[in-house]
Amino acid sequence: MSTPDVRSFTVGPVQENCYIVRADGASERALIVDPGDEPERLLEAAQALGVTLEAILLTHTHFDHLGAVAPVARATGAPVYCPKLERGVLADVMRWVPPGFGPFESYEADHTLTGGEHLTLAGIDIEVLFTPGHSPGHLTYAIPGGLLSGDVLFQGSVGRVDLPGGDWPTLERSIASLIASFPPETVVYPGHMGVTTLGRERDTNPFLTELRARVPVAPTAADASGRTN
Ligand SMILES: [Fe+2]
Repeated sequence: MSTPDVRSFTVGPVQENCYIVRADGASERALIVDPGDEPERLLEAAQALGVTLEAILLTHTHFDHLGAVAPVARATGAPVYCPKLERGVLADVMRWVPPGFGPFESYEADHTLTGGEHLTLAGIDIEVLFTPGHSPGHLTYAIPGGLLSGDVLFQGSVGRVDLPGGDWPTLERSIASLIASFPPETVVYPGHMGVTTLGRERDTNPFLTELRARVPVAPTAADASGRTN
């Protein structure tokens, strides 16, 4: 299975990472994950890549991840997939946006997800994982070779847990489940800052010191007899 082509666009005042993903560099179909702001720039980027956006996926509904959802959905007709627990936030966005940001448009999600689903969108196989802790309904989208993991895990850091519905033991469990389930070379495409790998964070992330001691290590792709995505 080929590895998807993932393009990163850092948008908005909070420097959120939006991703345009296609099955390979030649595909004319793509999905977009967490269009947080700057809808015109994202639409132009899709046009420049020569792709049609066929789906809009949200990892969670903090304002910095959803500011461009409604305009991108309107321009493309692409359906929006939202964590079920957070669809009410997307439907009433400004109620949750801190002063000084926005305005952003609300949107009624076309599909809701709870984790455990398998999707094929724009020709890409996607496993939907429930990874709460940073927000109550947070999802991670596993694609071949990578994780679109929103604000779960960052290069050298982790998602904050002081916002409504945040909880560190829950987030730590979510991170542990990713580390136990996917090989260390799995690429992590986070919602902020640079791309990393699960193995690098498992070995060096200062927030995972306790977790390191007790989480079983998933096999590498080279020696795995099970999953390799
Ligand atoms: Fe967030």
